Amino acid sequence: MFLQNAWYVAAWETEIGDTPFARTILNEPVVLYRSADGIIALEDRCCHRALPLSMGKVVDNHLQCGYHGLEFDGTGACVKVPGQSKIPPGAQVRSYPVIQRWGWVWIWPGDPAMADESLLPNWNWLDDPAWKTIPGRDGTPMPVEANYMLISDNLFDITHLTYVHASSIGNQSIVEFPVKTERFDRGVKMTRIVPDRPAAPFYQKAGGFKGNVDRWLITTSELPGYIVNDAGTVEVGAGITPGEVNEAVGVEMKVMNLPTPETETSTHYFYAHARHFKVGDPEWDEIYRTQFTAVFEEDQVILNAQQASMSRNPDADGIDVNVDAPNNQIRKLLDDLIAAEQAETSGEHRSA
Ligand code: FES
Ligand SMILES: [Fe+2]
Repeated sequence: MFLQNAWYVAAWETEIGDTPFARTILNEPVVLYRSADGIIALEDRCCHRALPLSMGKVVDNHLQCGYHGLEFDGTGACVKVPGQSKIPPGAQVRSYPVIQRWGWVWIWPGDPAMADESLLPNWNWLDDPAWKTIPGRDGTPMPVEANYMLISDNLFDITHLTYVHASSIGNQSIVEFPVKTERFDRGVKMTRIVPDRPAAPFYQKAGGFKGNVDRWLITTSELPGYIVNDAGTVEVGAGITPGEVNEAVGVEMKVMNLPTPETETSTHYFYAHARHFKVGDPEWDEIYRTQFTAVFEEDQVILNAQQASMSRNPDADGIDVNVDAPNNQIRKLLDDLIAAEQAETSGEHRSA
């Protein structure tokens, strides 16, 4: 079950070209296309004989079905039936509220009347020229054969860096230090400070560090899954200043993670990296474009195998360890929001 009244990333804007684009989101087939008013999202199922509308084409800002030529406008209303002047009643497909922001197309699968722009994350550094952002996988999501909350778990449990990413961003000292977890209305923040330890291989190169460093790893998640890792590494004693590291003493980056459920066991994993150092250096653009793909694919292998194992034996017991605390909090928060949404929906049905 998914939280419906929330924004999810449906696509990178650059994925949507001149032809209709199909993607399943929260188990629903959706077609996206470009119109003069921006990107439109409709149900990908013709109301005549159910052909996916993504098999049709865009004609004068309308989406034309590829079977018998019915045309739909951006609200999903049928506006043309070839060979007849009257549009039959109910000739309509569902349309979804859409917002284009920071290169992503955000879609609201729930009640359109409740679509609320203020529920988008406030990622203001993406508008700030002091940061340079590189879209993950050249502006495509990574397909993951796992439930999207397993990605949330992965991002909060930073101890996995030590074991899964030992050659790049991991090192042994991460697991020596505890995490602090804070909860807020629609999310959880987890902070781990790793003082006076050797820099991980990636940071040795990024910051030119020779000896020990102070490092922080802060993960913030806003539901249903706007997850930011803020990672900074500075000279020992230079100060822990998330969001504003001075390049003279260190390096900092933020990883924006946006896992959008495709089904209960598959996810479109959108991500991007914003760095606060060497912003004008194309060599570093290239490093982010290529090297982090490998890091994310290390996670993909783990997540796919984890889901396959869980699906084989869904009722098996598991145990928790201390580092699971933030995950358990975020899952509880999500369950509560979904339960509240369900109660509201069934209340509406009762009173109708
Ligand atoms: S199925 Fe779409 S027009 Fe007939
Ligand atoms: Fe990872």
